[in-house]
Amino acid sequence: MIEHRKGITIAILLIIAPPLVTLIATAHQMIGTGGDGLIRASAVVAPPAPPPPAAKPAAPAAATPAAPAAPAPTATSAAPAQVPGRSALDFSASRPDWEGFLRGADPEAGKQLAATGKPGAGVQACIACHGPAGITPTGGIFPNLAGLSREYLAKQLADFRSGTRVQPLMNTVARALTEQEIGQVAAYYGTLAGPPLHVGEFGGDAARKLDLQGDGARALPACANCHGLRGMGEGPLLPRLAGQSKEYFTDQMNAFRNGSRQNDDVGVMRAFSQRLTDSEIEALALYYAGPPPKPK
Ligand code: HEC
Ligand code: HEC
Repeated sequence: MIEHRKGITIAILLIIAPPLVTLIATAHQMIGTGGDGLIRASAVVAPPAPPPPAAKPAAPAAATPAAPAAPAPTATSAAPAQVPGRSALDFSASRPDWEGFLRGADPEAGKQLAATGKPGAGVQACIACHGPAGITPTGGIFPNLAGLSREYLAKQLADFRSGTRVQPLMNTVARALTEQEIGQVAAYYGTLAGPPLHVGEFGGDAARKLDLQGDGARALPACANCHGLRGMGEGPLLPRLAGQSKEYFTDQMNAFRNGSRQNDDVGVMRAFSQRLTDSEIEALALYYAGPPPKPK
């Protein structure tokens, strides 16, 4: 009986011992490296002073006071070539400049500016290209501004100004405006109703399917998920597509596709546009544009 018990005790000991040893060894190693395991801050060579927002997300992650842990996460996010706009790896709270431009902005002053431009600074009236009430009579390369939100408009003007969105005409215009004036014109155009809806009359079923369902096989979400039902726009930063001309729409899709427009903050439009064919982009352009404008 006693012999039997001894045998069981030894067997149990033999079973428990190896994992116990592993556990102790792992704990020892973790303590020895200051809790960071194999990923030590010193193991990654980081640029000396990363941009200030990086300090914030690092703080809750590494509570160990021993290691200067801040450079570790930034080293990985700073590695790819710097692209204008916001990185998909940047999870810090966004505080865009244009928010400030809009604070207390007077739409009446914006209306005035839209009608006269700034002759002294060589800026033509906005209405010359964007139409008298933010709806371009000719279409073509000129987008309608009516129907877009003040936030989206201010963001685009700020992006043209900083150069994250490139188009020579609008880069010149936006750089000649003050921050206050950008707020004013954005506030003004944000009050105007967009053109009547004709979405879906053209472009066929392929475009309709992409708008309403997307294509799971290509990991393409429905455009309507972000741009609203019938391209009406959604919330402050997801622009209306309905009523933009075929040319403007196609230009923007191609610009996202070839990377010349990079101001979609986390790169969603750059990614989605690359999964579409030329003929799908053309069909979508007709789908959102509706009937061609009548020449006046
Ligand atoms: C000389 C013609 C011209 C004038 C004047 C002009 N724009 Fe533009 N604007 C354009 C063109 C062309 C585009 C399309 C840019 C592109 O293809 O990226 C554009 C685009 C824009 C956009 C982006 C719209 C979108 O859907 O993303 C905004 C906002 C804008 N303009 C605001 C203004 C304001 C405000 C003024 C007056 C202060 C103005 N523009 C004056 C030609 C002009
Ligand atoms: C995950 C959200 C999302 C989805 C899905 C999406 N978009 Fe966008 N799209 C955006 C955002 C955000 C912007 C504005 C980027 C910026 O700030 O300049 C944008 C901008 C655009 C613009 C430029 C509008 C202008 O006025 O200049 C076009 C055109 C466009 N999207 C077409 C599409 C089409 C077509 C689809 C479906 C195939 C689609 N988008 C799906 C988020 C999305």
